Amino acid sequence: MDPLLFALPKGRLQDVLLDLLGRGGINVDRAGISRRLTFPDRDGRFAFVSLKPADVPVYVESGAADVGVAGTDVLREFDPDVYEPLDLRVGLCTMVLACPVDRPLAEGGQWRIATKYPRTAGRFFAAKNNHVHIVKLEGSVEIAPQLGLADAIVDLVETGRTLKENGLVVTETISPISAKLIVNRTAMKTKREGVQRLLADLDGVIYAHR
Ligand code: PRP
Repeated sequence: MDPLLFALPKGRLQDVLLDLLGRGGINVDRAGISRRLTFPDRDGRFAFVSLKPADVPVYVESGAADVGVAGTDVLREFDPDVYEPLDLRVGLCTMVLACPVDRPLAEGGQWRIATKYPRTAGRFFAAKNNHVHIVKLEGSVEIAPQLGLADAIVDLVETGRTLKENGLVVTETISPISAKLIVNRTAMKTKREGVQRLLADLDGVIYAHR
């Protein structure tokens, strides 16, 4: 059987995911990851590829990758046409609206909102019938209010440390976030056996920790 092409997000979630896969019996030689475009697991069931988090659904939707892992932050922002069969219960954090501690948002103001998630932020404010100006950034969003680029931010919070260090405070919780396994729609049928075995391996690990 051909290996499944498995797209993993780069960054802080990758080690957590490799631990999770290891507990499910899928073992990867981590030393080879940074130097190679794709890397196999020890049993040759998968060829892994390490991608920018927002690129994972692009690869899986197109079929360039069969399966992948993406946060619900990315999935709700880009809305890819993929299956989401399993919540992995890792990468847990919260999407929030936050503003400077010393400059609360004025009611009825035309707020400028800095974010990496313009569609998510747009939907959130549209549902409240609140007209805002969205400033799309690629990262380090927490600096924007201090420098006068925005009045508030929509971003992820995990420990809360980054908000605190930048003098920001949560004013509203938008949604809980977690990492999900995603599967290409065609691969779900044509590579069913491999996908089902992966789901069973991961489900066993997640179930054991419930
Ligand atoms: C994420 C997020 C926050 C930070 C939250 O950024 O966008 O900036 O982590 O974590 P904390 O609550 O534990 O401090 P990331 O490190 O992914 O980098 P980015 O600024 O490039 O988005």
